[in-house]
Amino acid sequence: MISGKTAVYGLIGDPVDHSMSPVIQNAAFNSAGIDAVYIPFHVDGSGLKLAIQGLRALKVRGFNVMAPHKVNVLRHIDKVESLAADIGSVNTVVREDGQLCGYNTDGPGALNALEEAGASPHGKSILIFGAGGASQAIIYTLAQHASSTVLLNRTVSKARQLAAHLRKRFKANVTCASLSTKQIKSFVERADIVVNASSMGMKGKANPPIEGNWLRQGQCVLDIVYDPVQTKLLDLAGAARAISVTGLDMLVNQGACSFELWTRRKASMGEMRHAIAQKLLAMEHAESG
Ligand code: ATR
Repeated sequence: MISGKTAVYGLIGDPVDHSMSPVIQNAAFNSAGIDAVYIPFHVDGSGLKLAIQGLRALKVRGFNVMAPHKVNVLRHIDKVESLAADIGSVNTVVREDGQLCGYNTDGPGALNALEEAGASPHGKSILIFGAGGASQAIIYTLAQHASSTVLLNRTVSKARQLAAHLRKRFKANVTCASLSTKQIKSFVERADIVVNASSMGMKGKANPPIEGNWLRQGQCVLDIVYDPVQTKLLDLAGAARAISVTGLDMLVNQGACSFELWTRRKASMGEMRHAIAQKLLAMEHAESG
């Protein structure tokens, strides 16, 4: 029951109606017996400043930040943790002693999802598709652990800029190429971990340019896309008996990191997964009429 003591957490973004975060965070609060509620707030670009003033005034304990606010939110909060400051984007805000502090849990979420699947990136070669906001946050964490990272992007200038920055910042072994390179097959074959951090493979979009026989057992494929959950790329990974890590695995891990920053308690990932499965089932029933 919601009462005067119920702590409020939330999410800001545009749009927010498709987000699974309310499902997983409310499940985690329930399972931990914490008197809290997590609410999605639809905030467009022009309303960001005002929305954050409102969240401050309402003493909201913490909130997630989705597109298109992950970069602009930095201007409206009080402190930014060093990884998030480096990446230049924030997806989790925590109210600490009255101040709003920004974090980024996309990278730790991807790292934990890989480790959970038994595919730690330590000392491994990684191939990553995409150089947008999501890719940038993930690659910052993964490239620090990998022995080598290859970054492929349709707009090669973005990949070049990101690779140069990572080489300078972490002395990481990062190279890049355009998505149209003829070397894709050999990049895929040489990688221990293949990550799709682009929006390729989302419903209605082209798939990453990978053929099934380039993948093999012992490799791991992480696809951050979760609409659909089982992407064409993960179908290929499954057929090749490679380890599959889905966008929902990453979402749950990233959500667990946010929950732990807010509550300083471990999140029940089992409950989060169960809640998502129930929600997906309900959505399927609704779609099939
Ligand atoms: P996000 O914050 O979700 O990463 P984004 O910053 O718009 O969103 O990045 C989307 C990524 O998917 C980019 O790497 C984009 O490539 P470009 O940098 O060339 O735009 C990639 N992407 C989107 N649609 C694509 C397509 N049809 N083919 C290839 N890459 C695509």
